Amino acid sequence: MPPRLEGTAYDLDTDELASQYEATSGKAQLKTGIILLQELSINPGAYVLDIGCGTGLLAAHISSLTAPHGRVVGIDPLTKRIDLARKKISADLKDTLVFEHGVAQDLSRFGNESFDVAIMNSVILWLTPEEQREALREAFRVLKPGGRLGVAGGSGDHPNPFFEIRKRVLSKDPYRTYYPDIAIGAPKRITSEALTSWSKEAGFSSTKIRFDSPALVVQTKEALLQMTTSSAFGNFMGKLPSELQLAAQDEMMREFEQYRKGDHFEIALTTLIAAVYK
Ligand SMILES: C[S@@+](CC[C@H](N)C(=O)[O-])C[C@H]1O[C@@H](n2cnc3c(N)ncnc32)[C@H](O)[C@@H]1O
Repeated sequence: MPPRLEGTAYDLDTDELASQYEATSGKAQLKTGIILLQELSINPGAYVLDIGCGTGLLAAHISSLTAPHGRVVGIDPLTKRIDLARKKISADLKDTLVFEHGVAQDLSRFGNESFDVAIMNSVILWLTPEEQREALREAFRVLKPGGRLGVAGGSGDHPNPFFEIRKRVLSKDPYRTYYPDIAIGAPKRITSEALTSWSKEAGFSSTKIRFDSPALVVQTKEALLQMTTSSAFGNFMGKLPSELQLAAQDEMMREFEQYRKGDHFEIALTTLIAAVYK
């Protein structure tokens, strides 16, 4: 089979990346996810599907909103992340918070009109455009009439400084041998236009989109790098041999100097936050 240049790799995640994501995503993805939930009116008793749940931090928060009679199912393709997610299931949550392997573009294990709310927080950008359309069709199918889909993540209408830096560094020798096409491992951030038109095509009645540009504030360049690489579960530079990863990391961290503000680093990333209504 020819290499799948456009797609995301699922075999580059490591225990270290998974635990770094768990430790650092509270400053970024979890914050955005909580803002997204506010758009979706999640009430006690709701049945919620968290698609691409990662290590389950947002799903655990959702289960506190749906308790005591609601139910949250998180699915994710990465075993190491699902394993960390399952550690969050305390005895009192064992019937109402569930984590399983799965992908957004194939929800066939769930029946039509099962869920009140479905979420994709910082997930849709890891799918190819065709998979994104399939994921929207699947979300429509599994939502009840009146159900809501929340989509959030890096905006395709705005540049992403981390991936601009990645492009500059990995396009150089010797790194580019491993990344002959810089699109390998890069996210496919969705534009507001594509999300609106593909949601309509999937059957949704309306899409409400807004943008948020919170400042990401961290104390060290190493923390910035960890946040970026762990969010991409190995796709950021995982195809480089380890000694070249160290060299590329040094180059990237030199570029991070431009975000220094006194004793910390500050970087603005524009996030798309969408509520899509069935
Ligand atoms: C940045 S993490 C976001 C995790 C979580 N939603 C959160 O808010 O912290 C991206 C997640 O998307 C998942 N993912 C990537 N491709 C996916 C797909 N095709 N279907 C479902 N999840 C996917 C990854 O495994 C990873 O856990």
